[in-house]
Amino acid sequence: MRRMFKLSLAVLLAGVSAAAMAQSAKPAPLPKHVQEIITGRCALCHGPEGESASAVYPRLAAQHPDYLQKQLKDFRDGRRKSDTMSDMAKDLQDDDIAALAAFFASKKAGARQPGDADLAAVGKFIFHRGNSYSGVAACASCHGPKGYGTEQLPRLAGQHPAYVETQLKEFNKRERTNDNAIMHSIASKLTELETRAVSVYIGGLQ
Ligand code: HEC
Ligand code: HEC
Repeated sequence: MRRMFKLSLAVLLAGVSAAAMAQSAKPAPLPKHVQEIITGRCALCHGPEGESASAVYPRLAAQHPDYLQKQLKDFRDGRRKSDTMSDMAKDLQDDDIAALAAFFASKKAGARQPGDADLAAVGKFIFHRGNSYSGVAACASCHGPKGYGTEQLPRLAGQHPAYVETQLKEFNKRERTNDNAIMHSIASKLTELETRAVSVYIGGLQ
């Protein structure tokens, strides 16, 4: 009886450690030079875990890897204009970009603070229902009801409101022109209040 117990415990433990190993199995160990790029460069603004302490820098944690790769290549190749990011991305090779994207995508999104409740309520309406009077499509119809996005579409949930607001304004003014057809037409129909409100709502989504 005792032996059986020991045996089953051993089997159980083996099972647990196999599961733990499977869980901690990361895509691939980060090459040393990519680790150095993260600590020496990206982390200064986006944080070591992609959480970006300052609201002007977008959070990268839990963003979709394909989207991150596309943006980094767009910065590098001049399709998305940003003085800071063009400089950061100019010497990155395609496989560095793939490793950086996989790294930040694998990080968990931290806890979020709800913003001004009244603004968030207006933002919630726009996000889920759009504005049929001005022809704004519901953000949820593409970015998902929780703002988690899809493989091709960016996750918005928990993004810094100040960053979201800036991007919406840049889409509107055609300052952000990589793949902007859809977002340009949406942003151009949002009022200032709606832009602010939907950004505040997005920032509080977990
Ligand atoms: C000096 C600060 C700074 C550093 C260092 C920096 N970034 Fe950025 N990053 C920014 C800013 C500012 C933006 C917003 C760009 C814009 O649209 O104007 C941004 C945007 C991005 C975006 C787009 C996110 C989105 O949601 O579209 C990605 C991806 C990104 N950075 C990755 C990186 C990586 C990887 C590194 C390291 C190689 C890095 N950044 C280093 C400031 C920085
Ligand atoms: C018809 C689909 C569609 C709808 C509806 C839509 N979006 Fe988007 N959105 C996109 C696509 C596609 C992109 C990616 C653009 C790119 O690759 O640069 C995007 C990008 C964004 C970005 C940039 C994210 C980043 O990390 O830089 C923001 C912010 C955004 N959308 C906000 C919104 C808001 C707010 C609404 C609702 C008012 C909305 N979107 C509705 C398709 C949509």
